[in-house]
Amino acid sequence: MYSEHLDLTMLNDLLKTQQVGRGATPNEVWDEIDSTNTRAADIAAANGTHGVIVAARQQTAGRGRQGRTWVSPPDAGLYISFLLRPHVALTELPLISLATGTATASALLQACGVSAQLKWVNDIVCEGRKLGGILAELPQRDALVIGIGINLIEVDRPEELRNKATSVQAITGGVPDVNALAAALALEIERAYLLLESRERTQILNEWRTKSATLGKDVRAVIGNETISGTAIDIDRDGSLIVRTAHGDRTLHAGEVSVRAADGSYS
Ligand code: BTN
Repeated sequence: MYSEHLDLTMLNDLLKTQQVGRGATPNEVWDEIDSTNTRAADIAAANGTHGVIVAARQQTAGRGRQGRTWVSPPDAGLYISFLLRPHVALTELPLISLATGTATASALLQACGVSAQLKWVNDIVCEGRKLGGILAELPQRDALVIGIGINLIEVDRPEELRNKATSVQAITGGVPDVNALAAALALEIERAYLLLESRERTQILNEWRTKSATLGKDVRAVIGNETISGTAIDIDRDGSLIVRTAHGDRTLHAGEVSVRAADGSYS
């Protein structure tokens, strides 16, 4: 079964999960929506169940990290959010971001044959350009929304993104099966979430390390007025990035910093 665009029946048919996309609250695929993360938060507020999938063919107000816009033209990307009801301490949640990155890279390999890497904290990169991103939000104490955007098709991008972004089409030369990718992503998210619940931190961290585009690289991070330059040497048990500087090791926490390669390039 194949459809050129995202389709609810097809996505549901392709799901191989036990929990994700299989709760009492139905999954949703929209032709157009403001933001799938916003819609998933609304579903959470209305007592939506664990694992609901919300996806859209187009977003009119897609959101990225640090208040940025996620440009989401029709059928040019996968725009998808998962509502999770975490049974883990909130302190474990930074790890779900890392685990989601690893899950996304695995799904891209399985469904599209794309070998992606992860730029701390959770950008999906390939050949030095951004292929996708993850926006994890906590709209309520007991609801975690994980939003994933993946560029599928080459589109005319704003000038500032032209040399920084890529797509599955640019990498493989082919048009990806978006429903197969969404289903693979659901399965990998479920796997990542189960690892987190079973406290398999080491496995989560090691999987992230093997796919990292950041470790071993010279990086520059800006925290408020301070600029930190050094080599990214590892992530710690909480998923924070450890950077070796001339003045000793510094630990960078997700959310407070924007990390760039030391030469200013994207990855
Ligand atoms: C980033 O800035 O790198 C994160 C981008 C996350 C975009 C996705 S698309 C699906 C979901 N809905 C949103 O509004 N944002 C996320």
